[in-house]
Amino acid sequence: MRILAVETSCDDTAVALLDGCSAIAERVYSQEVHSKHGGVVPELASRSHMKILPELVREVLLAGGVGYGDIEVFAATAGPGLTGSLLVGLAWSKAVAWAAGKPFLGINHLAAHLYIHYGQKRRVIFPAAALLVSGGHTSLFRMNSWQEILLLGSTRDDAAGEAFDKTAKLTGLGYPGGAALDLAADSGRAENCSLPSPMADPSLPEFSFSGLKTAAKLLWEKGVDRSDLAASFRETVVHLLISKLMYQCGKIGAKSVLAAGGVTANSLLRKVLREECATRNLELFLPDKEHSTDNALMVGRAAAAILERNPQASSPLSCNAFARWSGTSLSPVGCP
Ligand code: KG4
Ligand code: ZN
Repeated sequence: MRILAVETSCDDTAVALLDGCSAIAERVYSQEVHSKHGGVVPELASRSHMKILPELVREVLLAGGVGYGDIEVFAATAGPGLTGSLLVGLAWSKAVAWAAGKPFLGINHLAAHLYIHYGQKRRVIFPAAALLVSGGHTSLFRMNSWQEILLLGSTRDDAAGEAFDKTAKLTGLGYPGGAALDLAADSGRAENCSLPSPMADPSLPEFSFSGLKTAAKLLWEKGVDRSDLAASFRETVVHLLISKLMYQCGKIGAKSVLAAGGVTANSLLRKVLREECATRNLELFLPDKEHSTDNALMVGRAAAAILERNPQASSPLSCNAFARWSGTSLSPVGCP
């Protein structure tokens, strides 16, 4: 089953061609236009998606040696995300599907992040605990199966990636600065900089990062070393994420742990996740760094999963972009 998947929910334009769950070709273009503005400018993001998307599609089809007529299903992220950005990929995908007389599937971006782990050789054993940690979301889920993904709790304010980005920007590391702060932290000493751990109770499956960000700002204004602050910030965030995730693993009797979202590219988070899961005999599913951040392969795999359950599945062409997700379960994975 050849699937052409598109992801345009924020500032990455991504296209993937899949055969079922296997990637044939994929491209991601990370928009650089936002860095000089210190944050994503929605209108510029939409314009950039419009300019880049057709080029990426051309490249992916060429790399895969196929034409539009060979695509059996078109899939695109429907939300959550920036409405203008989402509409570019969604409208393109719906229009091409309609013109080609092929089905279209609208996909939930948060579910897609978890579905990067779907259909692989190593299978997820349920129940599983999932950590979704990105620039826009920080949530814990209980997964009873691929169809039953239940929200345990989310951040009450900033997402972890957002806190990384804001702290990086504050300390002159540019935007988006999560990866730069991660790098700076490698040469710092966390013990030189004491930061609070908000909502630290591991049994509480919720997070709060805005106070931590403010504490980092106060320390920065007192003149602390940038690398030390970065190291302390990274350590604090990673400890909060892992302690709550591991508590939930124990509580639900998890056999597997799924991690997904841009912050799972963080080197310390990856190291501690591996160590903790090994100690507790938990099967860890961690994307490679390029599939931690936004990509279209995850959208294609979510579509492949829907089609495996129902080969006739398709979203209505009335499937619209949605900016927010406020459900308690990540089902359905497809367009509501
Ligand atoms: O999943 P993603 O690409 O987009 C959203 O769905 O939000 O995540 C992007 C986020 C940004 O906040 C970025 O700074 C963060 O992931 N990020 C990192 C690292 N690499 C990317 N945060 C910490 N350490 C990293 N190495
Ligand atoms: Zn994302």
